[in-house]
Amino acid sequence: MTHELAPAVGLPAPTAAEGQSPASSSSEGRDWWRDAVIYQVYVRSFADSDGDGIGDLRGATERLPHLAELGIDAVWLTPFYASPQADGGYDVADYRAVDPLFGDLADADDLVRTAHELGLRVIVDVVPNHTSDQHPWFLAALADPDPDGARRRYHFRPGRGAHGELPPNDWESVFGGPAWTRTPDGAWYLHLFAPEQPDLNWDNQEVHEEFDSVLRFWLDLGVDGFRIDVAHGMVKAAGMPDIGHGEQASLIGSQTLPFFDQDGVHEIHRGWRRLLDSYPGERIGVAEAWAPSAERLALYVRPDELHQAFNFQFLRCPWEPAAMRSVIDESLAATASVGAPTTWVLSNHDVVRHPTRYGGGAQGLRRARAAALLMLALPGSTYIYQGEELGLPEVTDLPSEVRQDPAFFRAAGQDGFRDGCRVPIPWTAKGPSYGFGEGGSWLPQPAEWGALSVAAQTGDPLSTLELYRSALALRRQLPGGPMRWLPGPDGLLVLARNGLVCTLNTTASVVELPTPGRLLISSDVMDQPGDTARIPADSCAWWAI
Ligand code: GLC
Repeated sequence: MTHELAPAVGLPAPTAAEGQSPASSSSEGRDWWRDAVIYQVYVRSFADSDGDGIGDLRGATERLPHLAELGIDAVWLTPFYASPQADGGYDVADYRAVDPLFGDLADADDLVRTAHELGLRVIVDVVPNHTSDQHPWFLAALADPDPDGARRRYHFRPGRGAHGELPPNDWESVFGGPAWTRTPDGAWYLHLFAPEQPDLNWDNQEVHEEFDSVLRFWLDLGVDGFRIDVAHGMVKAAGMPDIGHGEQASLIGSQTLPFFDQDGVHEIHRGWRRLLDSYPGERIGVAEAWAPSAERLALYVRPDELHQAFNFQFLRCPWEPAAMRSVIDESLAATASVGAPTTWVLSNHDVVRHPTRYGGGAQGLRRARAAALLMLALPGSTYIYQGEELGLPEVTDLPSEVRQDPAFFRAAGQDGFRDGCRVPIPWTAKGPSYGFGEGGSWLPQPAEWGALSVAAQTGDPLSTLELYRSALALRRQLPGGPMRWLPGPDGLLVLARNGLVCTLNTTASVVELPTPGRLLISSDVMDQPGDTARIPADSCAWWAI
């Protein structure tokens, strides 16, 4: 049966809640970040220049031309700072130094310069919620039991119980187990993540001053902004009250917790916005904030706060048309209410890769390709996690002895399987680590990944890599503007933006429609007999109207 699709032209203009400020058409001008496509480089797994099996800055620099060719606007580099690597570098011992694993400061400088020459901006991670337990501040705090001395930079407390043998409250670490560890002198310190990641005390002015100085250090080196790790965690509720229900804290959950999303964090972000604005060239801040709702998340991107906040509601949304539509509507409405863009993301280094989340195998890949086209059609900015442009699935069968994620070892943690999305990406069909480096790779790559490599997919018009390349090139040419929904048959989402119609078939069968326009791109082979478009199962297409 052929379903009727309402015409995309002549509809009433969308309300503010339906759309956003018009997208700028280039990454050159003001507000470049409002519609930027930003590619996440997980440094340790991207490209290894020295054959030690671990990706590094020089490797990333050498591969930047691939990213420029892919058609992105900026890269986000995960932490490459001096670190004992208890949590993949999210345990920083020196915020101004490059870990020898990844290179040195000259390599960082070279990466930023090369990226700029290629027209790419560079965003780096900053980890302000906690330091490494090897950071000089924490070593000083351990060495001096005076609660009013070096310990004031962290959260040290006496324990409960007759002999202080119980933790100060009932908070659980995100990685499992208590959020408190006892020192040999009997005091307890707070760590929302691993014990090697003690939480900083943001009531201490010295902490503010130190991070202002760290941000300046990297801004002076030329970076274009920061991805702010655990941007919702720095401020804890006064008195650190018990939660009471004894549940495992979840980074990804929507619970209201006394250590996440406290109103006080916004003052910190306002300060950083002033600092960013004091530099030329629109340097940005993007929040990794897991807030309980789209409205709470939007508070992080008010005009005097950060520029972007990852939309994890979208990432977590199941393959279900009504849910997808309402997540998109709620996100756009919430960010429009503060004049910010929505920042779409499907995968990152902390979650199961989306082809696997969407069911795995051929179906998961079909849906992932379709989801990418949907995401790239939406107003706002988009993040792409390295390897998603290759359609890489999660690696689900890593043996325990190669795993490194602290969450895997600490608990029945809800995100205890983060190594499976961090396996080094394949560049060539053959070679010791499929072109990742001259040596092996720190996590083993599946044998079938040669066929998914950049080299194997390049030039194949049906490959996921070429789909991303074409979609990104088309996206640059599209005029942008707000979106609105058009009616469609059950299971088909139809959205229109200035000159573009995007059709997403979320069902397991072909849906027929009168051809909506001129086919621009499709995630699956599209049959168009006469004036009919036969939209394949789990597929997405863009049409020019
Ligand atoms: C963020 C990072 C994650 C890290 C955690 C603690 O969620 O993305 O990888 O483990 O913060 O720093």
